[in-house]
Amino acid sequence: MTDKIEFIDLKSQYAALRDNVNARIQAVLDHGQYIMGPEVAELEKKLAAYAGVSHCITVSSGTEALLISLMALGIGPGDEVITSPFTFAATAEVIALVGATPVFVDVEPDTCNIDIRLVEQAITERTKAIMPVSLYGQVADMDELNSLATEHGLVVIEDAAQSFGASYRDRRSCGVSQIGCASFFPSKPLGCYGDGGAIFSNDDVFAEASREIRVHGQERRYYHTRIGVGGRMDTIQCAVVLAKLERFDWEIEQRLLAGQRYFDMLAGNNNVSLPVVRSDRNCVWAQFTVQVDGREAVIEALKAAGVPTAVHYPIPLHWQPAYKDMCRISGTLAHAEQVAQRVMSLPMHPYISEATQRRVVGALIAAVR
Ligand SMILES: Cc1ncc(COP(=O)(O)O)c(C=O)c1O
Repeated sequence: MTDKIEFIDLKSQYAALRDNVNARIQAVLDHGQYIMGPEVAELEKKLAAYAGVSHCITVSSGTEALLISLMALGIGPGDEVITSPFTFAATAEVIALVGATPVFVDVEPDTCNIDIRLVEQAITERTKAIMPVSLYGQVADMDELNSLATEHGLVVIEDAAQSFGASYRDRRSCGVSQIGCASFFPSKPLGCYGDGGAIFSNDDVFAEASREIRVHGQERRYYHTRIGVGGRMDTIQCAVVLAKLERFDWEIEQRLLAGQRYFDMLAGNNNVSLPVVRSDRNCVWAQFTVQVDGREAVIEALKAAGVPTAVHYPIPLHWQPAYKDMCRISGTLAHAEQVAQRVMSLPMHPYISEATQRRVVGALIAAVR
């Protein structure tokens, strides 16, 4: 019997971090401040320093981080936000939730991130923000997006749900544009044991607004100057992230090494298109996503060989029933449509062994032959 292959292995991570995680959770149980306990501020301080910005506001999920950001910017009906159609639904969902229109611009077929060359032509007098997604853990072309945004008076909100920990030039994801939004969903590179997220910014006014919106728009207790949400991150979840942070740099290194091993093992195989990482940044491999023809048959063959896979994402957002009639499409979205049919994510986590990766790659090569 060979060992079961995990797509993401949170059990091995917990085994490595057990004492630390348990002690951190126990400390919360002992002090009993389950909402806005001391771990919340401690985590915010550490994460802000990690991302290299002055403010981190923890919130109840990555989705809530994006939503609160749009609310704090006052984006609403009549406004447009430019984003990628090839992402998790939450990216467009929050734009729709505030009453604005998601405007989809095509992605690059190799990185699957928004194609900067197509963004300017999507800008209208209604555009208020650009929301690039740092997909799979690789930051999008942020400096070019920032320049374009400055020229047109727009805000750039990085959907960094998958990329916390990634490097871009001399900065880190969540510190590469005016606003960055991370997710601590358990399977993310930095995850908690439930839902969690955070907003990052150097803008004092925006940070203050976000902090208030997180707690029902309260300026002070029971005095509401804005319409807000119940969007706090639980103290226990902050404690879990604090425990995991101590091993995070090592885990990122392991992710990079595992990614490199997949590259080496699959090099030269013409039937598998490898993900592309630009030379001025890295990818923390929230997903290690290759592209193949005849994907469904390949997935079935891998499943039969005991190799779990996932598809991120099978249907671009402009084809989703909820968005197809309310979004605006800029140009064609041919690359998004094409990659949605070809992408397939392989098992990836910091604890994956070379031997497991050999099994994955052996099964993949046999399946695409
Ligand atoms: C690109 C992207 N944006 C937003 C989200 C939403 O994050 P959360 O699940 O923490 O709400 C996710 C999470 O899956 C995501 O992958």
